[in-house]
Amino acid sequence: MRALGLIALAACGSGSGSSPPSPGSGSASIVRVDATELIAKYECTRCHEVPKVAAAVRDKHCVACHRQILDGTFAAEPERLAKWRGRITSLTDVPSLAGADRLRRAWVRDFLLRPHDVRPELVAEMPRLALAPADAEKLAGHLVPEDRADPVDGDPAAGEQLFRNLGCARCHRFTGASVDDTAMHATGAKQPAPLDRAWQLAPDLRYARDRVQPAQLAAWIAAPRGLMPKLGVDDAQARDLAAFLARTPLAALPPRPPAKRLPVLDRAVTWDEVEAKVFRNVCWHCHAVPDFARGDGGPGNSGGFGFAPRGLDVSSYTGIAAGSLDDEGERRSIFAQLPDGTPRVVAHLLARHTEAAGGIVDGIRGMPLGLPPLPLEEIQLVETWIAQGRPR
Ligand code: HEC
Ligand code: HEC
Ligand code: HEC
Ligand code: HEC
Repeated sequence: MRALGLIALAACGSGSGSSPPSPGSGSASIVRVDATELIAKYECTRCHEVPKVAAAVRDKHCVACHRQILDGTFAAEPERLAKWRGRITSLTDVPSLAGADRLRRAWVRDFLLRPHDVRPELVAEMPRLALAPADAEKLAGHLVPEDRADPVDGDPAAGEQLFRNLGCARCHRFTGASVDDTAMHATGAKQPAPLDRAWQLAPDLRYARDRVQPAQLAAWIAAPRGLMPKLGVDDAQARDLAAFLARTPLAALPPRPPAKRLPVLDRAVTWDEVEAKVFRNVCWHCHAVPDFARGDGGPGNSGGFGFAPRGLDVSSYTGIAAGSLDDEGERRSIFAQLPDGTPRVVAHLLARHTEAAGGIVDGIRGMPLGLPPLPLEEIQLVETWIAQGRPR
């Protein structure tokens, strides 16, 4: 998944508003913000590790449970485990927020409000939560206590040589840069554990100049954290690499044409088909019945990630027919037409395409939340089924 770089890139350092740079600290902006309450409210720890905040319990933890299943440490019959393992591709790893202190505060704030795809090999993305701008600001201040704008002082040409010689492209894409090497990058998928996980978690370095504090770029390369291995780079080499990452010219990303909605099909489409191909495939993991899903119907049913319960169960014909709860808590159909004639559920699926292209549809959150948009053929299937009167 690749998003256009349409995110507003606020200037570094003091751009975050709430706190002026502290006197005497040069270009560093230091804030003391405690957003522990917001981290609890939005349940960030159901996916991320957050320093000094307890992780969510396993049965609420989207990543811990998936990892236990992949590692074989989840207690279940071997056949079930094997079946599950074959199906789980998303939310198997997320960046630890312990490493977010290298980022620019303003970038984190803007990213939380309008997330985009940073890691091309990671299926899941940061979900677009219902965060107020003031909440995003506070969370960014908590995660990035010190924001320095000191420039990088290395030799970009030497950095480019190092980038090639050290094979950074094994894990990293660097889209738009001369060193971007898709062939070398592709082989990274076949690396043994834990390097295969590092490959998945490696950010596209295109965004590094906007999101990472300049001095932190060099510091990180010399002493990486998380799953990036140490590559034996000394401080001077790290500065050259950082200067290269920050200054090498980048080609514009190819324009992304707006998703073209497909016409409804002529052939018959039944519930069995849309259930198997769409609703049971991804949606029901967040929109299920609590009894079935270990007491929690998922954020799209029981509520979660700061969302109020929508009571939407898409795991059965009667469940989906019962609809969802509107903002007043009244039941409404997810098939009812919005003012432009689009059934509500189809509008949510199309909105995810708009989000992936850098936009937002007012009042309609893209579905599936935090996952790649559905192929247009699957949306066509849902729309056809609705147009045919939703036959079983
Ligand atoms: C459903 C899982 C999920 C939840 C809940 C979640 N995140 Fe994320 N978040 C992700 C994923 C996946 C990424 C990586 C996205 C990428 O790189 O494209 C991410 C990325 C981030 C990043 C960027 C870090 C980096 O190194 O690139 C920040 C900051 C962040 N999340 C903060 C938060 C905060 C704060 C909350 C709670 C308000 C939160 N997240 C809740 C899944 C989640
Ligand atoms: C108690 C363990 C557990 C927890 C907690 C859990 N999952 Fe899953 N998840 C599973 C299993 C098992 C499967 C595979 C089931 C199948 O399709 O047969 C799965 C599959 C999925 C899938 C579809 C396959 C894929 O990888 O894309 C998605 C999406 C998903 N989960 C999202 C989530 C989200 C979001 C959360 C947190 C709100 C979550 N899960 C929490 C066990 C869990
Ligand atoms: C084995 C895989 C691997 C290799 C090889 C690798 N990296 Fe990384 N790199 C990662 C991972 C994983 C992360 C993200 C860690 C996290 O977010 O927790 C990362 C993060 C980074 C970041 C932070 C970028 C950002 O946007 O946050 C920079 C800069 C970076 N790497 C530079 C390099 C350079 C330069 C090289 C070559 C000298 C290199 N990496 C080689 C895996 C790798
Ligand atoms: C990661 C969890 C997650 C996944 C996966 C997911 N949803 Fe959702 N969904 C939510 C949450 C949370 C809400 C409530 C959002 C809000 O209140 O703004 C929601 C809301 C909705 C709504 C709007 C209900 C209303 O009345 O406002 C529809 C329709 C919907 N989802 C359909 C789907 C479909 C179809 C899929 C699969 C393609 C899907 N969702 C996948 C979490 C998820």
